[in-house]
Amino acid sequence: MAATDLQPVQDTDQPGQPAMRPRGGLGLSGKLLLLTVPLVMIAAVLLYVPAIANFWVNRLNDRVAAANTAALVLDAAPLGMVPDSLSRQILKSINARAVAIKMGQQRRLLASDNLPAAIEHDIDLRDMTVWEAITGSFRMMLETGNQAIRIVGPGVGNAQFIEIVTDELPLRQSMYRFSRNVVVVALIIAVLTAGLVYLALHYLFVRPMRRLTASLVGFHENPESSARIIVPSQRSDEIGVAERELSDMQRDLMSMLHQKSRLAALGLAVSKINHDLRNLLASAQLLSDQLASVPDPRVQRFAPKLVRSLERAIAFCQSTLSYGRAQEAAPDRRMILIEPVVLEVRETAGLASDASIAWVAAIERGLTVDADPDQLFRVLLNLVRNAAQALESHSSGQGSQGGAQQIRITGKREGAVAILEVSDTGPGVPQKTREHLFEAFQTSGRPGGSGLGLAIAAELVRAHDGEIHLVEGTIGATFRIVIPDRPVELLSIRNERARA
Ligand SMILES: Nc1ncnc2c1ncn2[C@@H]1O[C@H](COP(=O)(O)OP(=O)(O)OP(=O)(O)O)[C@@H](O)[C@H]1O
Ligand SMILES: [Mg+2]
Repeated sequence: MAATDLQPVQDTDQPGQPAMRPRGGLGLSGKLLLLTVPLVMIAAVLLYVPAIANFWVNRLNDRVAAANTAALVLDAAPLGMVPDSLSRQILKSINARAVAIKMGQQRRLLASDNLPAAIEHDIDLRDMTVWEAITGSFRMMLETGNQAIRIVGPGVGNAQFIEIVTDELPLRQSMYRFSRNVVVVALIIAVLTAGLVYLALHYLFVRPMRRLTASLVGFHENPESSARIIVPSQRSDEIGVAERELSDMQRDLMSMLHQKSRLAALGLAVSKINHDLRNLLASAQLLSDQLASVPDPRVQRFAPKLVRSLERAIAFCQSTLSYGRAQEAAPDRRMILIEPVVLEVRETAGLASDASIAWVAAIERGLTVDADPDQLFRVLLNLVRNAAQALESHSSGQGSQGGAQQIRITGKREGAVAILEVSDTGPGVPQKTREHLFEAFQTSGRPGGSGLGLAIAAELVRAHDGEIHLVEGTIGATFRIVIPDRPVELLSIRNERARA
């Protein structure tokens, strides 16, 4: 299998998807393989060092054991006389040039043949440390030539110790053979282990990692397709957690994207409607301008209001269009008298001429609010419209016996804060609508209702650093708006600028 191929989200193997290939050569599998072989070789080398030292010490001990046996034979000969040919044979069989033992104060040369002129090294096996065994074995392997060495080991019987003079070369050659065997075995083990480790890691980690990568790459290419969402496995380890988290994240992202594109489509539709509405309003404005010249006193009373409403509607369409997005323009705040705004709201909502709904305005005399007049007008209009709609639906639900229907607007000032309340005697806000009352598209399903009125009102109030909420525990519904005045410094700076 190629080290760089990747699987699709749900399958295990599907080679050749270029976008999923790791950049620049080796993938995870290749790297794992390259890493495993040297690691196993290092382990083999670490094992080799004590093994060769052990081999060397064992060989020397074998020599000493053989020499001890020979010494017993040589020592047992009557009067210590052994024929030269026999002693040579014995020495040859134990690979030694001389054997001596120490008994009491005496050191006895039991046999010797062709003694060398000089002895290169002494090796004392009686109290050899591990470190000495390691350095001794490596020294012997690294030297060249055939020097004579003396091995001293524990004796048997009455002998205190035994000494053997022997050649280094045969011992070194057997060590080379041993090393060669170790290297061959280590290589075989390394390849086998690397293969097993590679397979295990591949199935445990590399394959699931490739699934994750494939899913990420696929999702990146087409985040709106549910086919690219990873199907999590049942694993309970970190990879299982990563798969489940990735799957949840992809699902969330996909639904967010869907919602965003729906909103974008809606935004476009709103812009188009807005555009044509502005044109229609502009022609209505032309007609209402002509209406103003009709001498009838009633027309004279209503025409300026109609003109003013149309002007406001056109300005609003225009500002939304030129702003080009769903966000409201920043409020143009100033201190305004609230009473005329409330009056205009009443007239625009058609409540001035509606006898079925009582209108109560309890506003402190001369109350001013630090607000954008057009935006405050829109906030109040939305609330009053909602109240009127609630009352209408209430009365139609109750038949003709609908009780006292009233919309009440109160206004007061508490220090630097203006508080306005719009309340009605309708059925109140349904419980399930309350949770997301000020969010867009939250509506109780009233025909013709888009669920935007309160969202717009809340956005406008917040742009004034104010608050809007539903007052709990009242008859019908009561919405409270709190609008604080801007800090004095800002006001004075603005006034100074205006004067300048
Ligand atoms: N005064 C009220 N009395 C009872 N229910 C209300 C009142 N004001 C709002 N609601 C409830 O809150 C919901 C959301 O109101 P909102 O003004 O945001 O949307 P809408 O009136 O349905 O539609 P839109 O205002 O966009 O035409 C309404 O559908 C209604 O159920
Ligand atoms: Mg509404």
